[in-house]
Amino acid sequence: MPAAATSTVHPPRLTRDGIPGWFFKVDQEAFGHFLSAQNEAGRTGDILELGTYLGRSAVLLGDHLKPGEQLTVCDLFDSEAGDADNAAEMTMSYRKTLTRSAFEANYLAFHARLPVIVQAPTSALADGRIPAGSCRFVHVDASHLYEHVAGDIGVARAALAEDGLVVLDDYRSEHTPGVSAAVWQAVFTGGLRPVLLTPMKFYGTWGDAEAAQRVLLSRDWRSEGYSLDEDSIADARVLRLKRPVRPAGTQPRSASRRLALDLLPPVATRATRRVLQALRSRRAAEAVRTG
Ligand SMILES: C[S@@+](CC[C@H](N)C(=O)[O-])C[C@H]1O[C@@H](n2cnc3c(N)ncnc32)[C@H](O)[C@@H]1O
Repeated sequence: MPAAATSTVHPPRLTRDGIPGWFFKVDQEAFGHFLSAQNEAGRTGDILELGTYLGRSAVLLGDHLKPGEQLTVCDLFDSEAGDADNAAEMTMSYRKTLTRSAFEANYLAFHARLPVIVQAPTSALADGRIPAGSCRFVHVDASHLYEHVAGDIGVARAALAEDGLVVLDDYRSEHTPGVSAAVWQAVFTGGLRPVLLTPMKFYGTWGDAEAAQRVLLSRDWRSEGYSLDEDSIADARVLRLKRPVRPAGTQPRSASRRLALDLLPPVATRATRRVLQALRSRRAAEAVRTG
């Protein structure tokens, strides 16, 4: 008798876009472009991320490390926030999905070694544990509360080497006014120079903004379907980059649904997923009933 056929069921392979988070195509490309350009220019330095969630942006940052460089990520993960407002933010947006071990598993699906992980409020980094001037790129994407973001910008400034880049998430969303306040305060009173604005992120430097803009403009973004514009703020040039959204009705259905899920804030996203799930269950029940 022939041996019974055995089959092994493998779980679906994790893709970078399969990692939950709020790190979208235009910023993936802009991060990759700036970091690759730094590498091509022989620039060395560490990379720092404040606010990592499940690793969607950290995995990309890790792609660009050269031997001897270090990625440090700082997140509360599943530990307690230090104040009530931050605790409320955590409960509302991240608690149900976020654990340090889930981040580690995601990161290790793409890299051989974990980054340095600081599981603590980002204010812990104000103690100087990141050597001054050691970083070439800092991504600030942790709490959205003004006091925290203002502190995070201070950490970034101390950590960055001359001409290093800082990227600040959610600088213009209706639900994150504290981030906007901290970002523009840093610009008008702290010497931060805008380089690039995308729909989600502000890119700036305390060094030479025009040099960073030349790096961005060395790529022909328009021929790749992006829209790239120039603006000026108080006589200083700032670039704007985005991917045009296709007119309603021209998106393939699954893509438009994914876009909606991607662009909504986390709380709304969860509610939206529940509604979609309920709709799917109702359709399935109807299909069974009607044979
Ligand atoms: C928007 S998510 C980060 C998203 C991630 N960068 C990505 O691209 O998917 C914000 C993260 O900041 C963390 N966070 C919130 N407040 C924090 C604080 N005070 N200190 C450290 N991490 C904090 C949350 O745990 C959450 O993981």
